[in-house]
Amino acid sequence: MSVGRVFIVGAGPGDPGLLTLRAVELIRKADVILYDYLCGEGFLAYKREDAECIYIGKRGHQHYTPQEQINRLLLEKARRHRAVVRLKGGDPFVFGRGGEEAEYLRRHGVPFEIVPGVTSSIAAPAYAGIPVTHRDYSSSVSIVTGHRRADRDSEEVLAPNTDTIVYMMGVTNLPNIVEALLRSGRRPETPVAIIRWGTRPQQRTIVGTVENIAELAVKERINPPSVVVVGEVVRLREELSWYESLPDWKADLPSGNAGDKTLPFKTRKPSALSGGEGAE
Ligand SMILES: C[S@@+](CC[C@H](N)C(=O)[O-])C[C@H]1O[C@@H](n2cnc3c(N)ncnc32)[C@H](O)[C@@H]1O
Repeated sequence: MSVGRVFIVGAGPGDPGLLTLRAVELIRKADVILYDYLCGEGFLAYKREDAECIYIGKRGHQHYTPQEQINRLLLEKARRHRAVVRLKGGDPFVFGRGGEEAEYLRRHGVPFEIVPGVTSSIAAPAYAGIPVTHRDYSSSVSIVTGHRRADRDSEEVLAPNTDTIVYMMGVTNLPNIVEALLRSGRRPETPVAIIRWGTRPQQRTIVGTVENIAELAVKERINPPSVVVVGEVVRLREELSWYESLPDWKADLPSGNAGDKTLPFKTRKPSALSGGEGAE
């Protein structure tokens, strides 16, 4: 039986301008696209009109599709089609379960390719004006999961000894993250930023310290998806913040043409170089 090829592709953190050229090329050719909550909608403008698009669902919500089912779906689609794109938010190998899906495909003899994407762990801080490394403030960074696996109750949140730590999936577990940071010797006044929906027009950032961030996040109603950045680099935001002060994309939109093919550019804020693409 001939079998198609599965492309496990990173969609980036949401700004369609951060889709890679390779991702767009594959989306254009795909017979089937399986995508999830964090992919953004920018890719839709590049898909073939007759491509089958399957929404895999939101994590932590009712529509969440179990991993086993996703694996089986990938196999089933690869057996029927030439090109199957499995599109994932950020980078597929950074807390994206891309490795698990690739293992499954290999076990079942399905050829695959991996297309790295721009990970939110670096892009969201960058859009908030926070470089995760800087010669004066940070020469090391770790990317850490902030939540415990439901099937591993005893697993502790890690607080590695790097200058910067980026926690993903951590915003609902902040008290435990803070505890881990203090236990590992981080000073209570160490700056912490939380960036929600990074790189998207609705991006929101709050800044506090290890000591007060858990309380602040509740007060400011900061929910997932968010990344938490810990370390001195957070101070640079004061000088380097840029994205949140770009003009509001919605203000520029002419009414009544929300459904046309320029959709991805409408999900971007207009920057100086895009010359007001948001308004097209
Ligand atoms: C399952 S992980 C997927 C990470 C993804 N593979 C990546 O490289 O960005 C989901 C977590 O990624 C983070 N995340 C993804 N997209 C984000 C965004 N646009 N803004 C802030 N955090 C985001 C959040 O921490 C979220 O809980």
